[in-house]
Amino acid sequence: MLTDKYPRAILSHTPTPFEFLKNMSKNLGGAQIWIKRDDCTGLAMGGNKSRQLEYYFGEAIANKADTILITGAVQSNYARCAVSAARKFGMAVEVQLEERTPNRPEQYYNSGNPYLMKLMGAKIHHYPDGEDEEGADAALYMLAEKLRKNGKNPYVIPLAGHHAPIGALGYVDCAEELLRQFDDQNVQIDGIIIGTGSGTTHAGLVAGLRALGSKIRVYGFCVRRDKDSQTNRVFEKTKIVAEMIERPNIITADDIWVDDKMLRPGYGLLNDDVLNAIHKTAEWEGILLDPVYTGKAMAGLIHLVKSGAFTGKQNIVFLHSGGTPAIFGYPEIIEHTA
Ligand SMILES: Cc1ncc(COP(=O)(O)O)c(C=O)c1O
Repeated sequence: MLTDKYPRAILSHTPTPFEFLKNMSKNLGGAQIWIKRDDCTGLAMGGNKSRQLEYYFGEAIANKADTILITGAVQSNYARCAVSAARKFGMAVEVQLEERTPNRPEQYYNSGNPYLMKLMGAKIHHYPDGEDEEGADAALYMLAEKLRKNGKNPYVIPLAGHHAPIGALGYVDCAEELLRQFDDQNVQIDGIIIGTGSGTTHAGLVAGLRALGSKIRVYGFCVRRDKDSQTNRVFEKTKIVAEMIERPNIITADDIWVDDKMLRPGYGLLNDDVLNAIHKTAEWEGILLDPVYTGKAMAGLIHLVKSGAFTGKQNIVFLHSGGTPAIFGYPEIIEHTA
């Protein structure tokens, strides 16, 4: 594997299924739609973060860490998966929850992911500014310093863009897994649709595909930042990942496709296209999407297909990156039928 030289802790149930969405393809028309079920990676309800955490925990275990520190939104899937992984390896875990999404109902704070983190016994801290990535990391490092003074050996999983994106190696692995599955099913794929947040999944997938000689386009729909800043973030990250796997200079600006049409009105907030995507996917396929990430990515896929971006015969893949527990923090999904 391209990632062999990095320490890895096996956490995910892989390969995850790769399946055809018959009803969605028929109902939408305009493309043959497949799904990569990375919501089935295990680790207390799964998601893309399981693959990413394999490399952080690989490093944490190599460093003999006894406590994991992580920061994220109140409904962070990343933090929930990290808590589960820490428990699996018998480690203590402290989570810092950031206020990123204003005016949410009570369920947002005590249902879904925060509920599961508490169930697994995580120690919870709060950070008031959800837009201050550097500040959130600095607060984690201060916490780590305090723990060190008390004889602990903490490991920080950082958030801000400038850290080495070692989690992206999990999506280099996923690129390899996908190409194998495309071969096994004898299907030619013309696009992979994802939600792009920290850009870690996006960068790993693009670097992995290009390193393996695949030109498949990855369509990233923004969930957090606007198109220009996300494009720049993902481009820089992808180049770093390519260097990490010893394939420097394989990434050009054309490899990075980003669109922010489904982001409105902002991170963690719904719009009618997202509500429609969540409802249709549930009704047509019995598959659950989340309101923050996969709902926005699926709304993007529906928009692409309806706007004629593909011929009816072209095959595209929706990467289901998980996030399912967050549904329970959004009672309005079921109160409003789009
Ligand atoms: C369910 C889900 N999908 C997609 C993403 C975005 O992935 P990335 O941060 O790697 O861009 C996240 C990030 O938290 C997530 O939880």
